[in-house]
Amino acid sequence: EKDNTTYKIGFSQCVSGDAWRRTMHQEMYRELSFYPELSLEIKDARGVNATQIRQIREFLDEGIDLLIVSPNESEPITPIVEEAFHDGIPVIVIDRKTNSNLYTAYVGGDNYEVGHTAGQYIRNLLKGKGRVLEIWGLQGSSPATERHSGLLKGVQGSDIEIVTSIQGEWEKDTAKNRLKEHLESGEFPEFDLIFGHNDVMAIGAQEICKSIGIGPKKFIGVDALPGPYGGIQAVTDGVLDATFLYPTGGDIAIEIAHKILADEQVVKENILQTAVVDSTNIRIMKQQTDKIMDQQDNITRQRERIHVQMEIYRNQRTFLFGFGLT
Ligand code: FRU
Repeated sequence: EKDNTTYKIGFSQCVSGDAWRRTMHQEMYRELSFYPELSLEIKDARGVNATQIRQIREFLDEGIDLLIVSPNESEPITPIVEEAFHDGIPVIVIDRKTNSNLYTAYVGGDNYEVGHTAGQYIRNLLKGKGRVLEIWGLQGSSPATERHSGLLKGVQGSDIEIVTSIQGEWEKDTAKNRLKEHLESGEFPEFDLIFGHNDVMAIGAQEICKSIGIGPKKFIGVDALPGPYGGIQAVTDGVLDATFLYPTGGDIAIEIAHKILADEQVVKENILQTAVVDSTNIRIMKQQTDKIMDQQDNITRQRERIHVQMEIYRNQRTFLFGFGLT
């Protein structure tokens, strides 16, 4: 009976201009190609809470079978996500969280663990003593607060001090401008290392320090994206000292969505592992991620070829049918 059913998935994405979110979307579409019965619409809130709330409302009004949401900030987005859940729509929360446990499944990294691992790494790197300048992601978003508290836990009991906090809001330009202002203001607390809550902000910080002539400093970020502007390349080039893997979970979100819509049981918390990427493993990491990107390209190309073949086949059938030959 369900054979011809199609399901509509609405994905409310907090922002989408950056490479990490684009990677997430690519992973989603690649996974979706295995499930022709699923369709996906992405609405991008461009970092504005009110827009995200309105867009989720639109999804609910239009009618969707499942909601995927990455909340821009936790608190303002919580009520509308709870409302969707109460309406009986399965909800998958991805990457950033709401303040509520009313959702069907979560998929993403453990951001407390990311911060904690980074803190321990920093503690080793600075040999137990030093000053850290921390560049925050958007303060009301869960990965920022969790990476921060993980960081504190990781350096606890050492002589590592967080001397400055800059609000970078996850964005390279914002981080760069605020750091530049801070460093040019004259008096600022000395620091040994900059920890950016993500790679683009850490890379931006390195660019500013370099251009002002402040150094040598150490730079650490989070995400470890492959590709020309990602963290893997930055560690390869010595721009970052280390980064921590933060998988997007795009493909897994679709896999979970498929299971839910097929009435299968799913695990509620789907936590993706982090790992350090630094000079000790960068060569192998780079090789592996380059290879994966290559293979993903191949998959996409093959899919397109199959699509073309299917079109030809369909046209031929229509043609033969027209002559009464089938
Ligand atoms: C991308 C991003 C990532 C970060 C994540 C946190 O938009 O800023 O760099 O790891 O969001 O939600």
